[in-house]
Amino acid sequence: MTEELAAFRGFAYAAAPESRAIVRLEDGYGLFVGGEWRAPAETYTTISPASEEPLAQVGQASAEDVGAAVGAARAAFEGEWSALRPAERAKYLFRIARLLQERAREFAVLESLNGGKPIKESRDVDLPLAAAHFFYYAGWADKLEYAFPNRRPRPRGVTGQIIPWNFPLLMLAWKIAPALAAGNTVVLKPAETTPLTALLFCDVLRQAELPAGVVNIVTGDGRTGAALVEHPDVDKIAFTGSTEVGKAIQRELAGTGKGLTLELGGKAANIVFDDAPLDQAVEGIVNGIYFNQGHVCCAGSRLLVQESIQQPLIEKLKRRLATLRVGDPLDKNTDVGAINSATQLQRIEEFVAAGELEGAELYQPPCTLPERGYWFAPTVFTNVAQSHRIAQEEIFGPVLSVLTFRTPEEAVEKANNTAYGLSAGVWTEKGSRILWAAQRLRAGVVWANTFNRFDPTSPFGGYKESGFGREGGLHGLEPYLRFDEDSTEWGG
Ligand code: NAI
Ligand code: MG
Repeated sequence: MTEELAAFRGFAYAAAPESRAIVRLEDGYGLFVGGEWRAPAETYTTISPASEEPLAQVGQASAEDVGAAVGAARAAFEGEWSALRPAERAKYLFRIARLLQERAREFAVLESLNGGKPIKESRDVDLPLAAAHFFYYAGWADKLEYAFPNRRPRPRGVTGQIIPWNFPLLMLAWKIAPALAAGNTVVLKPAETTPLTALLFCDVLRQAELPAGVVNIVTGDGRTGAALVEHPDVDKIAFTGSTEVGKAIQRELAGTGKGLTLELGGKAANIVFDDAPLDQAVEGIVNGIYFNQGHVCCAGSRLLVQESIQQPLIEKLKRRLATLRVGDPLDKNTDVGAINSATQLQRIEEFVAAGELEGAELYQPPCTLPERGYWFAPTVFTNVAQSHRIAQEEIFGPVLSVLTFRTPEEAVEKANNTAYGLSAGVWTEKGSRILWAAQRLRAGVVWANTFNRFDPTSPFGGYKESGFGREGGLHGLEPYLRFDEDSTEWGG
């Protein structure tokens, strides 16, 4: 090693923390109902998962609170909102989009603080995409008749929306933007560990002068979610979260006539063929599973690599993992932030223990994890069999399972050998092979030579236990609308 290189090795990244000063937290937050703050009877403390520092007191909404929110949403729907000219509706959505852009830094810092994701992701992915969803659906609000010709689209009414903790503000945008564009009103429940950006969003609604009751935000855990699902005056439920809860909701709603869309778990295959550009594929694999600590429903958690290139690919991947910086979510250099909660950390640890017990080979790069907070090092399992739990179940953490294949047919068969069907990735130089694989993969989204790319114009959703219904694009509007063919007016 030359002296220069040795000296260079001595350089370490200096901390580059984003300032927290832009975020002004209240001591406590109420429930946002009918444009006003309603005091909850019960509260809990929301924390920063990176430090376990308490951030604020948040309401645990009761069934009565949920009832008040649904009542406010119904009154707003029957009142001015559904009668508003669609172009006027669009104006509110455009305003919300612009306000999110203006306040992007504040939202990004708060998102990282409350959820643990790296600031570079909340800044460069969550916030721009959240704003883009509002812009995109604002454009459709006054064009629904052209989007669905001869079908007379009408809003459904009051929609209940339940979202998870992995992309708190972005999931809020995915839910609220199409619902409002279609003319509905909303009661939204954020996840219990990440309520703060949804509560800050209420201030954006105030700035946008959205009529009271059009959007209501009720915080709380699964009990609050269940009360929303069970409420008889909700016309449609949109849920993103675990398959277990999704199934329970589907059972609950069976026979009620309420609309339902479910966006649930995944165990996506990321398939690398022997002709793929390896360095590019390594970046895609890293982005596929370590982005957002692997708390991603469409994460590329099963790497399927063609046997002939397994060795060089895994070597490159391990070298790349050693350069990932794990730590303070607010540090601009951080690649992998904190695990969202103690509960989720425990789940990940259980899966990893099961992987070792079943005989897979574990690799973690050397890295020092902070003492306080919830952390898990980027992990790769090789020698994984299809029957292993780590190859079948959703871990929702920074843990990659590597399997191999010999022929394209085997790759597709293994990729489809899952209860899920949300996404997949294909890495190859051959365009024909991409199309061949995409036609055979049972996944809602297939990425080619990239992974985890999102765009508001593109529909997203799953097959099988990954749920049903699509979000994004024109497809994402459909579940929020009623059409002529749904009615029995023709005696049909
Ligand atoms: P979860 O499904 O319990 O939570 C998601 C949302 O549903 C939260 O807002 C929660 O309060 C709400 N909820 C919980 N029980 C409910 C009920 N009975 N009725 C109505 N709403 C209810 O997910 P959890 O427990 O946070 O995570 C467990 C696992 O689920 C994760 O390890 C991961 O595998 C998966 N998951 C998948 C997500 C995805 O984006 N597809 C998101 C979150 C979790
Ligand atoms: Mg749960």
